[in-house]
Amino acid sequence: MNGMSNLSLSLRAESDAEVLESGIVESKAKSEISEIVKNVFERRLLNASVFANKEIISQHYIPEKLPFREKQIDEISSDLSPSIKGTKPNNIFLYGKTGTGKTATVKHVLEQLTEFVSKQSLPVFSAYINCRNHPSKYKVLLKVAKSFYPSKDFLGYSVSFIYEKILDFCEANSAHLILVLDEIDKVKDLDELVYSLTRGNDELGKGSITLIGISNNLMFKEKLDPRTKSSLCEKELVFSPYNANELKEILVERCEKAFKPKAVSDSSISLVAALAAQESGDARTAVMLMQRAGEIADSEKAVLVVEQHVEKAKASVEEEIILSMVSTLPGQQQLVLYSISAMTIQHKGSRRITGEIEEGTLFSGEIFETYCEMAKHLGRRTITSRWYRQYINELEMYGLILITASGKGIRGQTRLIKLGFDAERIKSALEKELFK
Ligand SMILES: Nc1ncnc2c1ncn2[C@@H]1O[C@H](COP(=O)(O)OP(=O)(O)OP(=O)(O)O)[C@@H](O)[C@H]1O
Ligand SMILES: [Mg+2]
Repeated sequence: MNGMSNLSLSLRAESDAEVLESGIVESKAKSEISEIVKNVFERRLLNASVFANKEIISQHYIPEKLPFREKQIDEISSDLSPSIKGTKPNNIFLYGKTGTGKTATVKHVLEQLTEFVSKQSLPVFSAYINCRNHPSKYKVLLKVAKSFYPSKDFLGYSVSFIYEKILDFCEANSAHLILVLDEIDKVKDLDELVYSLTRGNDELGKGSITLIGISNNLMFKEKLDPRTKSSLCEKELVFSPYNANELKEILVERCEKAFKPKAVSDSSISLVAALAAQESGDARTAVMLMQRAGEIADSEKAVLVVEQHVEKAKASVEEEIILSMVSTLPGQQQLVLYSISAMTIQHKGSRRITGEIEEGTLFSGEIFETYCEMAKHLGRRTITSRWYRQYINELEMYGLILITASGKGIRGQTRLIKLGFDAERIKSALEKELFK
């Protein structure tokens, strides 16, 4: 028997001893209940679980307290405070890697703002739009209009009509609108959207429109039209990744409410924090890992979440994260990544002049060639080499690939590229997207 199973057995035994007394009574009661409750789902609900309130450890839950984001909460609320004094706040652009708490922080500030202005009956209104689900100017404006006229349906109306309705709302209520455009990089015609909404302020006699743009694409700002950039980024705020200690504190806070007392071992929390910090300091990965580890513990009928459950959770969470990341990439970028994974599987390691092959490492140039061949084969247009380099930089930023400069023995300045995840997994995730 290996060390891990020993550890898990002893942990199970120790915890079992703690619950033994109440356990006997409980199991008697349970068998009586299951006699009465015949429905399988009802019975499932009655089953013991390590969770006290699973919702709290779900990635969609916004906790009341957001440790290590006090500075950002302070800055955003201070930036928005002109609205409660009746003047227009500056537009704000928030960026930072995935899982650094951007959405949670902004939603938290909006909740506080809404609570305050409704108590004081101030004409400040906010709308949160996730542009991943509303990726065009029309769709964003439609969603904004719907949130201020909840009983009206604007579907089918022209973009200018909807836009005018939003301005009417401002005029009629002397309203200051705070529009949060989360994942703003997903809007196809963003320049037009930002232009219209900022120009709206010049047309308004009363009230105002303020934008809060959020993105995890660190290169997105550089790609913006200079006019859009200067409108949107009047104020900027960066969210940096969490380190392992910070992630641990975040997890402890959430686990306290999400799990039953003494249902999570300290070492499992440390392991989750270390794994998530290693990946990219992403609190979402940490929360997802912890939730999945709890589910695995439940499925094994364990009373304590231990490191082994975290290890098992890692593989399944990784898969989920890859799938969700890959599915939001533009089609051409998916094809570039597909070429990398297909080439990695074919063991096309790059050959140094010395003849040595570095496993899984590819030349940037040969990937571009393979990509062009594949695109032609599939009857799709191809991107220019400049766009290709941009896509490669973004893939690195998402952690999907690693880039190194050519090492000793390779002529000229070329980049070596290696996949950040298992090639088979990425390839099969992409196949679902590209060939659906
Ligand atoms: N400081 C924190 N304290 C507690 N939980 C946090 C904290 N920061 C992030 N989280 C949690 O981590 C998860 C991801 O956070 P969030 O959705 O805000 O990330 P994000 O920066 O918007 O990521 P993305 O760029 O991928 O949208 C959520 O479950 C959130 O509640
Ligand atoms: Mg977000």
